[in-house]
Amino acid sequence: MKHLLKMLDLSTEEIIDILNLADQLKYELKHGIDHPHLKGKTLGMIFQKASTRTRVSFETGMVQLGGYPLFLSSNDLQIGRGEPVQDTARVLSRYLDGIMIRTFEQKEVEDLAKYGSIPIINGLTDFCHPCQVLADLMTIREFKGSFDGLKMTFIGDGNNMANSLIVGGLKVGMAVSVACPNDYQPPKEILDFAAEYDCFELTDSPAQAAKDSDILITDVWASMGQESEAEKRRAAFAGYQINDELMAAAEPDAVVLHCLPAHREEEITEKVFEAHANEIFEEAENRLHAQKAVMVKLMA
Ligand code: CP
Ligand code: NVA
Repeated sequence: MKHLLKMLDLSTEEIIDILNLADQLKYELKHGIDHPHLKGKTLGMIFQKASTRTRVSFETGMVQLGGYPLFLSSNDLQIGRGEPVQDTARVLSRYLDGIMIRTFEQKEVEDLAKYGSIPIINGLTDFCHPCQVLADLMTIREFKGSFDGLKMTFIGDGNNMANSLIVGGLKVGMAVSVACPNDYQPPKEILDFAAEYDCFELTDSPAQAAKDSDILITDVWASMGQESEAEKRRAAFAGYQINDELMAAAEPDAVVLHCLPAHREEEITEKVFEAHANEIFEEAENRLHAQKAVMVKLMA
């Protein structure tokens, strides 16, 4: 594994290795055991979109690993003024030991990896959010003990989160059900991958997808960059909400996850959100541990 660009690139073994290391690093942090695997290394973090969790967890994680994080806002970089990604990649590769990038187009991340010579980590694109899904898988295993026999359900937009959850969930052996409005299904590349699995289901019925599910997950109806579509999307996604009625269709001990930020009373009710806050905030914490594992695998 040279980069983390998308879940599609990872083997099941690589995913499980990352999750095992993440568990170990979490244990070490909680028990005051130092783990300076990246002493003297520098991570550049390019942000073309806003972030709370990704920025703070990468920055803190790098410090905990003995390294140095460099926050690079695209407002200040020449890339924001049109310097080509091919040149940015070759320059930054001479200063840094790794780059985390959050941007719009997946191609920009792939190009950084293609033209640069250091590990590239995708901190979210319009296409996928692999760091979040590694944390989600870590959280699921923490609450459920293993992935065996589990059904994971995603309700809402066929977006970056849905895409990565489908691939990650299927690769670790869960059944995956997705409920999206017909006009908002995941892209063909993801559906082609999922078509190889009998345990994948795509429906426009949230109740059908949630039936007997062990894990229910949702995300915002309008992602970053789609703000102008928010009103249209509110109409299209009405009914694609995790609420008491949907929870009643799932297993009684179902876990609820949300990558955050959440829009209460849109994709999830306040009541369900607060009833599952311990899972949702453990998930947020696990960003730190999962990403530290990714950085150690790629940069140590
Ligand atoms: N879930 C997530 O990626 O959060 P941020 O946008 O705050 O980084
Ligand atoms: N789908 C959301 C995820 C935010 C972490 C977005 O792209 O804005």
